[in-house]
Amino acid sequence: MKILMVCLGNICRSPLAEGVMRHLVVEQGLDWEIASAGTGDWHINQPADKRGIAIARKYGYDISKQRARHFNPEHFEAYDKILVMDQQNEKDVLRQAEAAEHKEKVMLFLPNDLEVADPYFDDKLFEPVFLQIEARCRQIIEEIKSQSL
Ligand code: 4NP
Repeated sequence: MKILMVCLGNICRSPLAEGVMRHLVVEQGLDWEIASAGTGDWHINQPADKRGIAIARKYGYDISKQRARHFNPEHFEAYDKILVMDQQNEKDVLRQAEAAEHKEKVMLFLPNDLEVADPYFDDKLFEPVFLQIEARCRQIIEEIKSQSL
């Protein structure tokens, strides 16, 4: 299983999702590939936001070595699931998809049409966003193992 987490800048939400998911799959002995990318290109090669690195560290995850990447259409072939943090990300990714089988790989990270709020302009959001991402990563692993996602 190859999963790509996508947000706008690839420095706040999707690096948290990448780091937490990779940590959890390694812990469970699953041979899955986890990565992330942003639909925007401003932060390419930069580490995750310091506030994200800090909140992840507080809960036992190290995301400090990850570097931002820009989403590109080759990712449709490279990954099995492309999990986007909000509806704008979804639009921006789907706009680059041509094949139906590529569009089918794209889905919101949260269930029930919920979006992960962007914490970039609000320091107080990092902890609730982190906790929401961590809980959902655990669910996603179970859903993929039971083939319901
Ligand atoms: P992210 O947050 O999409 O969760 O990484 C953002 C990071 C940077 C910017 C916007 C959102 N920005 O405009 O630079």
